[in-house]
Amino acid sequence: MSARNRYLMGPPDFFTVSYVINPWMEGNIRRTAPDRAQAQWQRLHTLIQGYADVELVAAQPGLPDLPFVANAGLILEDKVILSRFMHPERQGEEPHFEDWFSAHNYTVYKLPPQIPFEGAGDALLDRGNPWLWAGYGHRSALDSHGLLAKWLELEVLSLRLVDDRFYHLDTCFCPLQDGYLLYYPPAFDELSCRLIQQRVPADKLFAVSEKDAVNFACNAVNIDKVVLLNRATPQYVDRLQEWGFQVIQTELTEFMKAGGAAKCLTLKLNEPRLVAAAPSIQMAQRQIQLEGHLLDANLMSRVMDTITSDGGSFEILEFIAGPRPQDTSRAQMLVTAPSQDRLEQILTALIDVGARLPATETRDAELFPVLQKGVAPEDFYITTIYRTEVRVKDQWYPVQGQRMDGAIVVTETPEIQVQCCLLRDLDLDQQVVCAGPAHRPSLARPPP
Ligand code: ARG
Repeated sequence: MSARNRYLMGPPDFFTVSYVINPWMEGNIRRTAPDRAQAQWQRLHTLIQGYADVELVAAQPGLPDLPFVANAGLILEDKVILSRFMHPERQGEEPHFEDWFSAHNYTVYKLPPQIPFEGAGDALLDRGNPWLWAGYGHRSALDSHGLLAKWLELEVLSLRLVDDRFYHLDTCFCPLQDGYLLYYPPAFDELSCRLIQQRVPADKLFAVSEKDAVNFACNAVNIDKVVLLNRATPQYVDRLQEWGFQVIQTELTEFMKAGGAAKCLTLKLNEPRLVAAAPSIQMAQRQIQLEGHLLDANLMSRVMDTITSDGGSFEILEFIAGPRPQDTSRAQMLVTAPSQDRLEQILTALIDVGARLPATETRDAELFPVLQKGVAPEDFYITTIYRTEVRVKDQWYPVQGQRMDGAIVVTETPEIQVQCCLLRDLDLDQQVVCAGPAHRPSLARPPP
């Protein structure tokens, strides 16, 4: 007999709509009825207590959205990745959630301040497979996904959200026990829909109607074979029954005025790891160089818009402005995309908006020998979980045995082999890829 599931909830004592950070809140400022909100929350609380233990985080004046505890963080086993809220209106919740997690013996991981991530609202563990579905595009940055994969040692599948109404992944996507999954396809871009369809067999995947989606039917709490939600159509209920689930509807209309419902009001506290999986992520990165009238012709802002509107993100590594009107400017950027295909698509789009991308990757990797056993040469290229290729004698070679924080060893015996190696395993005279003076993969790149 497995232990009872545990959930966190936050009483809505100070719940109201006092600002607008999602489209549901528009027109609803102070339009919530506190008594009705309390009654709806209590009913949900009582229902969940029928199937699981519920713990509480104290309500706080001035933090009206705190009952949406799904956004506290992302839990796996004894680790939690604390949320970094996108909007200042919710950032005051972070210390309260941190205190709660610390007091309950979780190891708390914190993202760098410039990387927004909204916890289990945007990152949902699959319920039949050892991977994490992670949303980005509204509240969480794509750049958070690499860290989720690294810290939780899990495969992360990035999904891009494109409809403002479905600003958190849990508003339009719901993994159910045994690998079933509900989603509202128009909330995602095409490539994300394709990824979902590739990973979930058709007979386990249900595309909900818009009517269900706007009633927060994807925002469901799934405890074993029970699914609790605000409201659903008969088609939805029938499909779930065919799959062996019991659907329980409980009105949460007061919370919908703030843009949330059942799932947002809960956070599952016990999240066992399904099967130990190697950390991996489909994300791809490429360092690019831009040249031209980047400022005066407004090219730079078009480039940045193109990257983000095509689902990527970027970091400007260097910007050298041409000092006179006739001079061109130069920028080095690191472009990150959720997959290799998407990266190629972004690079093509950049050329279409007029960016020149002089090749930066025409050099062979610089190699230096190991001079002391177990010690990498200064400035060696430190591996990431991103799949990487290394250029040796004008050819690109995939890195074998790719893992985090290793070095890359190149051997010619006589055919060329490129192998990831733990630092402690480095041997005298082995040739190690070095990073060169500046930043990241100008010498190593993800494979095409
Ligand atoms: N008003 C809250 C916000 O916009 C609602 C959060 C709903 N939470 C969720 N996990 N979808 O942040």
